[in-house]
Amino acid sequence: MYHSKITGLGYYVPDNVVTNDDLSKIMETNDEWIQERTGIKRRRHVNTAEDTTTSMGVKAAEVAIQRAGISKDDIDFVIFATLSPDYYFPGPGVLVQRDLGLKTVGALDVRNQCSGFVYAISIADQYIKTGMYKNILVIGSEVHSRGLDFTTRGRGVSVIFGDGAGAAILSREEDTTKGILSTHLHSEGQYAEELALIAPGMGKRWVLDILKDNDPNDESYYPYMNGQFVFKNAVVRFSEVIMEGLQANNLQVSDIDMLIPHQANLRISQFIQQKFQLTDDQVYNNIMEYGNTTAASIPIALTEAWEQGKIKEGDTVVLAAFGSGFTWASAIIKW
Ligand code: UT7
Repeated sequence: MYHSKITGLGYYVPDNVVTNDDLSKIMETNDEWIQERTGIKRRRHVNTAEDTTTSMGVKAAEVAIQRAGISKDDIDFVIFATLSPDYYFPGPGVLVQRDLGLKTVGALDVRNQCSGFVYAISIADQYIKTGMYKNILVIGSEVHSRGLDFTTRGRGVSVIFGDGAGAAILSREEDTTKGILSTHLHSEGQYAEELALIAPGMGKRWVLDILKDNDPNDESYYPYMNGQFVFKNAVVRFSEVIMEGLQANNLQVSDIDMLIPHQANLRISQFIQQKFQLTDDQVYNNIMEYGNTTAASIPIALTEAWEQGKIKEGDTVVLAAFGSGFTWASAIIKW
């Protein structure tokens, strides 16, 4: 039995910075409301002529591959987590295989929204543990900005989300005291519609129905979020899934060297930090800069924390996520 270890990390965000003041020019909102409720100061939006979910994922992956010290030909499998794929099908995994010029390795797409990256590394971990694959490229990438309602009607959702990508290489590790110790995945589909984008989908409204109606007041094209309900569930599930991971490895809260929470809302991260009595050095947040980048949020934050020397060999690193589905997940890593 092997372990899997993160051997390379990278991220890419578009150059285009959109501040809260920029948003207040196109809808009724203001910097004070956004910062007070979410902690967000600015986010990135893609230049659509330059970037897609896949192209950002490829750019993040190139950095991660180089840092892992492997060649593209060493990659045995691709896992791509996103809720904003370039095409309805095929998913972006195969586009990465093509655009990076990988061998004809398998490419899997994961649709678990904010928990997508943790689900993706959990899958990668299983393939490596069993010995089937040696090096797996895991990507989380999102283009939110093309799909949001930037009128006052959509302000409760559109101010929160940002575009970006993060990537990790998971590699075989022979020392089973190191690497990913365990992952913990959950879902509760009874709340599927509390944070969702309903159309286009084969369930209720497909593209042809939308074209036929062409109703400008139809809100089902835009993500819907019951913000307060999601918030209340998030703080409970974050705490639960972190404790579940620690207990599975006989660890205490005091063993956490670095917690990387999914960047949904700075107030959620602060609530968890306070609950677990962690110091500012033990929790990494960057939502102020990028907003909520969904599947990309954890790999971007993890890469930044690592680049800044905040994660060292031997550290216990905890990843935790909660989001649409509802789904939630954690990963306990010995760096
Ligand atoms: O990543 C996946 C998981 N997602 C989350 O975990 C998000 C969890 N939820 C949240 O972070 C918060 O609920 C939000 C940040 C989304 C919203 O904050 P809130 O404190 O729950 O605000 P609210 O939706 O209850 O709205 C309060 C007021 C409303 O006005 P009234 O009805 O009190 O007059 C809204 O219309 O704020 C108004 N409002 C805004 N005002 C200015 C809503 N959005 C905005 C806005 N600018 N952008």
